[in-house]
Parts: sequence; C-alpha cells; structure tokens
Amino acid sequence: MKKVYLETFGCQMNVSDSERVATRLAAEGFEMTANESAADVVLFNTCSVREKAEHKLYTRVGQVRNPDGTKPIVGVMGCVAQLEGETLFAKSPGVDFVIGTQAVGRVGKVIENVFETRGNFYDLGVREENYDWTTAPAQRHSPYVAFVPIIEGCNKFCTYCIVPFSRGREKSLPAAQIVRQVSVLRDQGVKEIHLIGQNVNSYRPKSDVGLENFRGATPFSKLLRAVAATGIERIKFTTSFPRDFHPDIVDAINENENLCNWVHLPFQSGSDRVLKAMRRGHTIESYLQKIDKIKVSPRKIALSTDIIVGFPTETEEEFLETLKTAQYCEFDSAYAFKYSPRPGTPAAEMADDVEALEKTDRFLRLEKVLRQSQTKALQSCVNKIYEVLAEKKSFKKDRKDKSAHIGQLPTIQTNGDNFSGHTTCHKVVNFESSNDVLGKIVKVKITESKTNTLYGEIC
Ligand code: 5AD
Ligand code: SF4
Repeated sequence: MKKVYLETFGCQMNVSDSERVATRLAAEGFEMTANESAADVVLFNTCSVREKAEHKLYTRVGQVRNPDGTKPIVGVMGCVAQLEGETLFAKSPGVDFVIGTQAVGRVGKVIENVFETRGNFYDLGVREENYDWTTAPAQRHSPYVAFVPIIEGCNKFCTYCIVPFSRGREKSLPAAQIVRQVSVLRDQGVKEIHLIGQNVNSYRPKSDVGLENFRGATPFSKLLRAVAATGIERIKFTTSFPRDFHPDIVDAINENENLCNWVHLPFQSGSDRVLKAMRRGHTIESYLQKIDKIKVSPRKIALSTDIIVGFPTETEEEFLETLKTAQYCEFDSAYAFKYSPRPGTPAAEMADDVEALEKTDRFLRLEKVLRQSQTKALQSCVNKIYEVLAEKKSFKKDRKDKSAHIGQLPTIQTNGDNFSGHTTCHKVVNFESSNDVLGKIVKVKITESKTNTLYGEIC
C-alpha cells in the first residue's frame, strides 16, 4: 500500500481540500501517514496569498528526502499549483506532479501515472460535475469541528488579491446538499460546523431547492436558517464580504441560538480612497453601519477582521484612518498584513511605494491598537461563564517532573487533564477537568486572560 504524507498551508479552504483529498486517496487504496520519512508520496497543499506563504513551498520541497537519501514522489496542490502549473517542474526540480485547485478529485489517478512512468504530470482542469464534497471522519482535522464549503472561488477581484486567479469564479454548492452534509456530520457526532468560502455571504445557488421553507433577505441568510434547522449544536461561518453583508444575517443569528455569535468581516483599510484603489466595493461609512448593527445584537456578537497596511500609495493620513476604524470597531481579534505584491494582480502593476520600514512601522502601530481591543475583549470575559467545546486534550495529568530525576520520572499530580476549545464567540479557552469531557460542550468559568487565550475552571 502506497503511503501519502499531506502537508497543508494556508486557509480553511485548503484544510478542507486536504480532508477531501485524503478521503479520496484512502478510498482508492492509499494509506495516509503523518510520518513524512515513511511516505512514498509527499504532497504539499499550498497558499499564494502573500509572498511569504509561497516561499514556504520552495523551502519545503528542497527538504524532502527519504532516510536512505533517495527522494519520494513529490506533488503540489493548492493555489501555487494552479498559478504556476507546469512551470513548477523547472522552478522547483524536486516536484513530480502538480494538481490545480479544481483537479483535487483526480490526485489518485495522477499519482498512479507518476508511479507507472516516473514522468512529470500536471492537471489544472476543472472540477468534475459529480465531484464528491464529503469527508470521512478519519480524515477530518477534528472529530468535533468540521468545515463545510458552501461557495468556491471569488468574483470580487480586489486589486491586491490572487485568489480569483487561483480559485476561479464563484460557484455556490446546492443548498440541499449542504444541509444533507450538515445532518450527516451531526449524526457522526460533530458539534460545530464552519460554513466556509472566500465570501460566504455572496452565496447564490443555481436553484432554491432546500431553501424553499426558509425566510431570508438573501440566499445566504436562508441557508443559515436552513442549516440552523438541522439542530446541530454550533454553526460558524467565514469569511463574510462587507458589501454583501445584509443585516438579515444578524437577524438570523438573533433568532437561532445555534448560529454562533461571531462574525469575521475584513475591512482591509479605513480610507475610502484606498478602498476604492483596492476595489473592495464598500466605503468606511457602509462598513461601520454594518458593524453598528452587529454591535447592538443582544447576542453580543464577537467581531474579527483582516487589514492590509502599506497598500501602494497609502499615505500616513490614510493609515491613521485605518487606526481610527480599528479603534472604533474594537475587534475581538484581527489579522494585520503588510501589503505583498502578487504577480498578475492589478495592484502589482502599481509601484510598491510604501517603504519596507514604513510598512513595518504602520504594521506595529496597528498591532498595538488591535492588541489593546483584543486584551479588553478577553479581560471582559473574566469571572463570566462560557460554553466551551472541549476539542483537544493536553495530558497534563501524567506530566513528568523532568527536573528531578533521570530514568523513572515521578508524575506530578494535578486535578485532571487539560482541555482546550472554543466559545461560541470563537475565543480559545484552556481549562482543567477531572472528567473526560473531550467532544462535549461544557460550562467554564473564566479565571484569567492572557494574550490570545482565556483560562478557566469547569463549573
Ligand atoms: N498582501 C497582503 N495581504 C493580503 N491579503 C490578501 N492579499 C494580500 C496581499 N497581496 C490578506 C487580506 C485578506 C487575507 C486573507 O489576506 O487581508 O483578507
Ligand atoms: Fe481576495 Fe477580495 Fe476575493 Fe477576498 S473578496 S478572496 S480579498 S479578491
């Protein structure tokens, strides 16, 4: 049985693609392994959203070696694969095959071809009509949390972004299929699903089948209500596109306890001029209106965002507007990025004229503001009780006291195992419990907040 080691970089869509690739490969007779040095095939699922992410691939391909010095078969999938195609064979000579973002259903076939002929193969073709979007429990990143793609690709063409080129046009999955998939996951014991896509709220399926019985101002808010009706414990969704963020999404959250109180809404820049140059399709005023609607929800919806600093031509004054917007919104968490030109995008044609040192300075000043609001949000949780899904265990119970002895190590007795999980508002909580609560939603009283994490006691 051929063994495949699959390493994933980048976003949740990549994690989800990897889960489906692993599911198919296992069904086709390959064995998925977590041990790279035992693998016959090493497959990298790549990200090209920023230059740094892309470079990771080239570094990793260079490192792949069998223990005996020979090289396993090396494959590349994901965004770099789609964008670079067969040029990867020359750019990164260790690469044997390349699978585009929509060709993931055919990885097994391509691997067989490589083994048979020892040649280079690539497939950048479109997705099969009957492509299977389901995942096997054994291949998911978590037994309790599952990603469910609802829309693939992107039509927005923000000027800095490579995604529309690497992932193609928006295509929404049929609602009935999504709802069926969520019901199956629920029956398999999954507690939390994330509806995922580059812009989930641009969801626009070809037909209304599956949504007929649900209210909603847009197909996405109908879908939220339809998925909520499956009764699965928790539903989160990401990423939302500000222009298409209809207030009815907040109404749907207000009406359904299992629609979680967390929204990820990237604003990218606080300057209308920069937003226009980015072709984001929203103004700061329209963004803040949406934020205000979210903030007044009785569900206390947590907010997160993405921001880019140093977009070409961004002035100090325009950057200060970004700081002001971040201060106003008081995000629970945020991702800040320094602008990175992506070849092929419209912005890459502009001079990357904010100097590296200036970009770093803006990034650090923004991080400070973001950290302040994140700290405030986390501190406001202390002494309150939250429902936490216990997702991981860290076996603190049998921790060994390495400082004392060599050989037979004495065990430090603590009250229980350490668990880690998320609240409905997507904050990470670590807590101790003497009962095995893995996979359960438990009440935790928060006792302490640190930089990114809350600590608490099970109640
Ligand atoms: N440079 C810097 N950040 C980028 N992002 C996307 N493209 C670029 C780029 N060229 C950021 C955006 C997006 C997030 C996923 O990555 O903030 O929301
Ligand atoms: Fe990229 Fe804009 Fe599409 Fe998001 S909406 S994936 S930033 S082009």
